[in-house]
Amino acid sequence: MASGNPSRPSPQLAARDLVHGLPASKVREVANAGFGQSGVLRFWFGESDEPTPEFIKAAATAALARDEVFYTHNNGRDDLRQALADYVSGLHGCARGPGEISVTSSGVSALMIAMQALLSPGDRVVVVTPVWPNVTAIPAILSAHVIRVGLRPGAAGWKLDLDELLAAMTPDTRLVILNSPGNPTGWMLTAQEQLAILERARHLGVWILSDDVYERLIYREDMAYAPSFLRLASAEDRLISANSFSKSWLMTGWRLGWLVAPRALETDLGKLIEFNTSCAPAFVQSAGLAALREGEPMIARLRQELHSKRDRLLRQLNAIPGLDCPPPDGGMYVFFRIPGEGESLALAKQLVAEAQLGLAPGVAFGPEGEGWLRWCFAARAADLDAGAERLRNWMATTSASGVL
Ligand SMILES: Cc1ncc(COP(=O)(O)O)c(C=O)c1O
Repeated sequence: MASGNPSRPSPQLAARDLVHGLPASKVREVANAGFGQSGVLRFWFGESDEPTPEFIKAAATAALARDEVFYTHNNGRDDLRQALADYVSGLHGCARGPGEISVTSSGVSALMIAMQALLSPGDRVVVVTPVWPNVTAIPAILSAHVIRVGLRPGAAGWKLDLDELLAAMTPDTRLVILNSPGNPTGWMLTAQEQLAILERARHLGVWILSDDVYERLIYREDMAYAPSFLRLASAEDRLISANSFSKSWLMTGWRLGWLVAPRALETDLGKLIEFNTSCAPAFVQSAGLAALREGEPMIARLRQELHSKRDRLLRQLNAIPGLDCPPPDGGMYVFFRIPGEGESLALAKQLVAEAQLGLAPGVAFGPEGEGWLRWCFAARAADLDAGAERLRNWMATTSASGVL
């Protein structure tokens, strides 16, 4: 077969069917359509437009000058594991030690390693959706069977039907995955819901994987960080928390994350880290250490700024007649809908081409997200204003021409 057609590789050159069949990122598909087009306002990716703080960069530079360029322990350096154990224990009032921490080369690698440790082919995995696509792609890569429990939109935000989730957790379920605060919806679990899920998981012997990467970025006056399973669980519970330096410390490009897992998994997680990346880079671990030691003021500032950007974007979108914009409790996204618009991938491409507005299509996060669009508000206020203006003008023109 001709090698020119990437969708039909010759059998000799093909990846295994399961990998070849993985869907390509639909966020990327929109972004690729917009690259090369000048003047597009880009809100499609999940990262801030603000670079990493100087004190973190300085720590990495100093570490490089000290020749921190060698392999480290698979599970991470002792000083960083201790600092992470202290950080997690202080934040969530739990007594976790360094043996329960594994440092990984990013949050997504943390999720992959946790699932490699737990999942066998055919295992039943329950996931609350819509969700960042990697969360459902990883069990699929591992030949596990994903059951989706869909959140529902409402005027006060996206909501979980707790009974539906508890019913989906059956005796033959191996793992339940929750991402709260959630990407793309900004939905957040309450402590009561977490307790109910934990009790059901204990009763059935189901593992919980909690993706906590947005736990510091929440927009409720009554809370400084999201409720955590770590506060409720004991060190012996079947609970793994996956986390990352990417969002709270503005370190997306550094690729540093961590897992909090029962001590019994420490050695096996270390083996998997060996076979994935062997370790996170030493100088990046030094940057992470500085982020933990000196980062609280910057997180407080970031959270406040994101809160006001969220409010600003919601105000602007709510002023456009007809938009459906459930307010997010946390995260970095407004997930909204233009009534009458069905196919979010086509719509997102149309908005890039006709309004120079770059948003992520909701279908990228699963069928429950179809018809919706994700807007990352971790951007300059002036860009958010200009983007909302573009949307308003595009909708006015489109409805005047009878399309909407
Ligand atoms: C829900 C969720 N989990 C995990 C990650 C992983 O972040 P990283 O791999 O940059 O640490 C992301 C990034 O967008 C995310 O949105």
